[in-house]
Amino acid sequence: MEFGLKGRIALVPAASKGIGFGVAKVLASEGCKVVISSRNQDSIRKATEQIVRETGNREAYGFKADLTSREDVDQLLVSARQKIGSIDILAYNTGPPKPGTLTELTESDWDYGIKLLLMSATRLAKGIVPEMVKKQWGRLIFITSTTLRQPITNLLLSNTVRLSLAGLSKSLATEFGPKGITSNGIMQGHILTDRQRQIAEDVSRRTGKSVEDAMKQALLDVPAGRYGTVDEIGYLVAFLASDRASYINGAMIPIDGGMIKSVF
Ligand SMILES: NC(=O)c1ccc[n+]([C@@H]2O[C@H](COP(=O)([O-])OP(=O)(O)OC[C@H]3O[C@@H](n4cnc5c(N)ncnc54)[C@H](OP(=O)(O)O)[C@@H]3O)[C@@H](O)[C@H]2O)c1
Repeated sequence: MEFGLKGRIALVPAASKGIGFGVAKVLASEGCKVVISSRNQDSIRKATEQIVRETGNREAYGFKADLTSREDVDQLLVSARQKIGSIDILAYNTGPPKPGTLTELTESDWDYGIKLLLMSATRLAKGIVPEMVKKQWGRLIFITSTTLRQPITNLLLSNTVRLSLAGLSKSLATEFGPKGITSNGIMQGHILTDRQRQIAEDVSRRTGKSVEDAMKQALLDVPAGRYGTVDEIGYLVAFLASDRASYINGAMIPIDGGMIKSVF
């Protein structure tokens, strides 16, 4: 597909595997220069090599950064700038929060969840937006979850903290829309990654069902009858990053095979 993204500089955090990796790979295949990150040096190096190998785009760079660490986020932005310049596209992704209910989650789980799901996004946006303002062009794309619209049992951190990303994205859309920057979010449903297996294992522990049955059960609520793919998320991100999507600002877009049942 041709989205006109050649030469654009994209940052995709939490991208050694899963959705972040899929998004980075699609952006690289569209000709973006990509910076990816995760907590594990070896995993992010392998992911970077895989992107280069599979897309033929040599402009992919990987850095170790824990998104819950302010120092790591600051250093990630410095490293990205030094390596390829100022960022045009932030395709914000983060690691999955711990599953759990009110009684199970501890005070420190909540602290960690807020750092992971909210503070990492605000720090990245704060570090990147001034450069976008100078260029009068930028794309902020927050990869979140359908839990914003429809809470999922046992995912209290996701159900609660991610809602603040909708407020962040909408506020940035209003504040920076006049500067040529769009800010949008994506609410993905069940996408086939290790995270879905982790959730199915949690269901299996709680209910005694097998993990395979828990994986199948999750699809009962999905009219499409299947898991989504990381490429499908990647192509939505690529479209939102393109000039074709310049009138989409402040939107929160579901990509869930029809799982969300509400009309709005
Ligand atoms: N898959 C789904 O169906 C689905 C649906 C809705 C929402 N989500 C959300 O979408 C996001 C991505 O999910 P996924 O399915 O792609 O998960 P995944 O396959 O488990 O991948 C998670 C990625 O995040 C990185 N990561 C984890 N914690 C991190 C941290 N503290 N700092 C930096 N990187 C970190 C991991 O690498 P390292 O371990 O090397 O750090 C890995 O690259 C998660 O927030 C998840 O909750 C997923």
